[in-house]
Amino acid sequence: MEYVAALLDMASIRVYEVATFYTMLNLEPVGRYHVQLCRTTPCWLRGSDALRDACRDELGIGLGETTEDGHFTLTEVECLGACVNAPMVQINDHFYEDLDPARMKDILRAFKAGDPSTPGPQTGRQTSAPASGPTTLTEL
Ligand code: FES
Repeated sequence: MEYVAALLDMASIRVYEVATFYTMLNLEPVGRYHVQLCRTTPCWLRGSDALRDACRDELGIGLGETTEDGHFTLTEVECLGACVNAPMVQINDHFYEDLDPARMKDILRAFKAGDPSTPGPQTGRQTSAPASGPTTLTEL
């Protein structure tokens, strides 16, 4: 961060402000799989605490921690913009949505086995359509 500040000829605090505010900037190395758990209000109301517990039970780590083998890091983040499909997590570049604790554990087991699950809604929902199915634009 000091290097970047010097390179851009700006006060160090400007770089620190950005780097410590946005969670997409990691200040320490993260695991091969970075599990970012959204805990903002919609995800919290829909069960993000239970997802945190499922991650803890399956991985043996808490928020801000990395597994001993370096494969998984669990991070708490603010809204990732998929509230309609809450609760959700981002693992590396992909969103896993409409989660429950059992599905969360299944997804983590699949990553452990080297065969990651298909991202997106985990309930069969079509993208962000109503859970009961599309109600508009049903015919082309
Ligand atoms: S609150 Fe979780 S994605 Fe918006």
